Amino acid sequence: LPILIDDFYAEIERHPRARKVITGGQAQIERLKVTLLSWMRELLSGVYDAAYVARRWRVGLRHVEIGLDQVYTNVALSRMRAGLSACVQMAWEQDQPRLGAALRALDKLLDLDLAIIEDAYQYEYMARLQASERLATLGQVSGGVAHELRNPLNVVKTSIYYLKNARGSDPAKQQEHLNRIERNVEAADRVIRALSSFARMRPPELQSVDLAALVQRVLEENPPPGAIRAEIHLPGDLPAAECDGEQMGIVLANLIRNAHDAMPSGGQLQIHGRVSGDFVEIDVMDNGVGIDPEELPRIMEPLHTTKPRGLGLGLAIARSIVEKNKGTIRAVSEPGRGSVFTLRLVASQSRSRT
Ligand code: HEM
Repeated sequence: LPILIDDFYAEIERHPRARKVITGGQAQIERLKVTLLSWMRELLSGVYDAAYVARRWRVGLRHVEIGLDQVYTNVALSRMRAGLSACVQMAWEQDQPRLGAALRALDKLLDLDLAIIEDAYQYEYMARLQASERLATLGQVSGGVAHELRNPLNVVKTSIYYLKNARGSDPAKQQEHLNRIERNVEAADRVIRALSSFARMRPPELQSVDLAALVQRVLEENPPPGAIRAEIHLPGDLPAAECDGEQMGIVLANLIRNAHDAMPSGGQLQIHGRVSGDFVEIDVMDNGVGIDPEELPRIMEPLHTTKPRGLGLGLAIARSIVEKNKGTIRAVSEPGRGSVFTLRLVASQSRSRT
């Protein structure tokens, strides 16, 4: 066994990427040689109980801790297998039937050991991956929240500064700043409500909702910026939809704001409404940048965002709300031409509107 062990570490010395995890120099190699010798003795000891498995499992765990890629353990084990097989062959040279049995037994032991080490690798690796993914998600969410809140807070700050310093100024101007503060506090509140509504969406209160009036209200709250023209084509006899008006307001606001964002250098926002069987459909259409075909299937996943900043919750919230309201939302898009988001809700039987 010591010959195999010397060969094992001589081989490691020849592979810098494996060698670099041995940070304690020759002293550590000598210690590792002792460890490996007892590992090999244990392999051949014949006692394979739970404590044995736990000790073997630790090898994988320890290797993950020191950052040793699993491939090195695998090839090292293969080298060790070749050496041990040669020893077994020498010992049973004269007895072929027992040689075959001994080689099979050795292979089985080494395969099981490798499986245990691999299991530890995967377990530990997955645990680390999940922890780092959680941290990345947390970073993304906090970055998005910070960005979304910074804008309204800055406006509030500026208006407060004006009100404090411009005493005796035009009352109309003062009123304008007070209104601006109110609007932006509401905007900040909406961000917080969107977050908590995603975390814990209340069940919808289904009512007959006049979608034309709702679209109108949402558009007033989210006016198209500068060079964007909005056109609304909602027939006067469009039936009311069976949904939660407040929740559907959040959905429409998301779709309309996304359409605005998709047209940074201006364009046309169109909102069409129609009846389709027992459903009412609303299209929110833009002629903006469009969405890549590879992106399209993922745009409604939480935390998926194509915007440089933003939470990536808007469409995920929209979809989750719509589904709870027994509706659907779908998107078609063409890069460079624009996108259409279609909201489909159950038409109210009563046709009475709220
Ligand atoms: C058949 C393959 C291998 C086996 C059976 C094996 C076995 C072991 C064992 C039993 C331990 C001690 C685990 C514990 O702390 O409980 C260990 C740790 C370690 N192994 Fe391996 N090993 C293998 C491959 C490798 C390879 C290819 C390297 C590459 C450099 C390596 C480097 C280390 C290092 C640096 C430690 C930590 C030592 C310390 O705590 O000081 N091992 N290994």
